[in-house]
Amino acid sequence: MLFESLLEPFLAFAQLGNLPGNTANASALATYVLPELPYAYDALEPSISKQIMELHHTKHHQAYVTNLNKALEASAVALSQGSIADFAAQLSAIRFNGGGHINHALFWQNLSPASSPEASPDAAPSLQAAIASAWGSFDEFRSAFTAELLGIQGSGWGWLVKEKGTGSLRIVTLANQEAVVVGDTPILGVDMWEHAYYLQYLNGKAAYVENIWNIVNWKTSEERFLGGRDDAFASLRATM
Ligand SMILES: [Fe+2]
Repeated sequence: MLFESLLEPFLAFAQLGNLPGNTANASALATYVLPELPYAYDALEPSISKQIMELHHTKHHQAYVTNLNKALEASAVALSQGSIADFAAQLSAIRFNGGGHINHALFWQNLSPASSPEASPDAAPSLQAAIASAWGSFDEFRSAFTAELLGIQGSGWGWLVKEKGTGSLRIVTLANQEAVVVGDTPILGVDMWEHAYYLQYLNGKAAYVENIWNIVNWKTSEERFLGGRDDAFASLRATM
């Protein structure tokens, strides 16, 4: 499970009984950091503006990371003090902000400048073959994925995932910052929160989705399709 992976350092810490009941030791917990983008803030223009990318990364994603670390530390303190009530009170924040960190970290890697080789569907031959097998053609898949994205009510995410067990491809949508945590491998995700497009597209959500197809990193998608869940989430390890 993804959250087990996300919380590994925390759980190991707790299981070792290494929680002597003070905040100084709780603050020794591993923390999560904002990952650097693999491209410049203006590299995805005109599909996504520099202003959006900079705010999205340095403000929105950073806030999820900061609040995740705060909630993990507060929950460790609560556990060390034997307060299950205070511990349980942090779980919602861990789920929301942990999901926000996971989703955005995966999303940045799903994008690439339109002029880069990675942005060509040819960079994902195995995945493209599987998509054609599942949906009939890439265009059919793109239409289906687009419809799912535009059908999200409120804030959320759309994902192409590789299903646990069967290895089949399917499209899932998740509300708010729910993350792909049910065993599936996330291959391609699209952020459908207004903060991802509103400054540039206003209420033109369909145009945002249309243009994002120009900047999909198909190399990343291919690697996730061929790999396992651990590969997809490798960059999400905490720093100790
Ligand atoms: Fe976002």
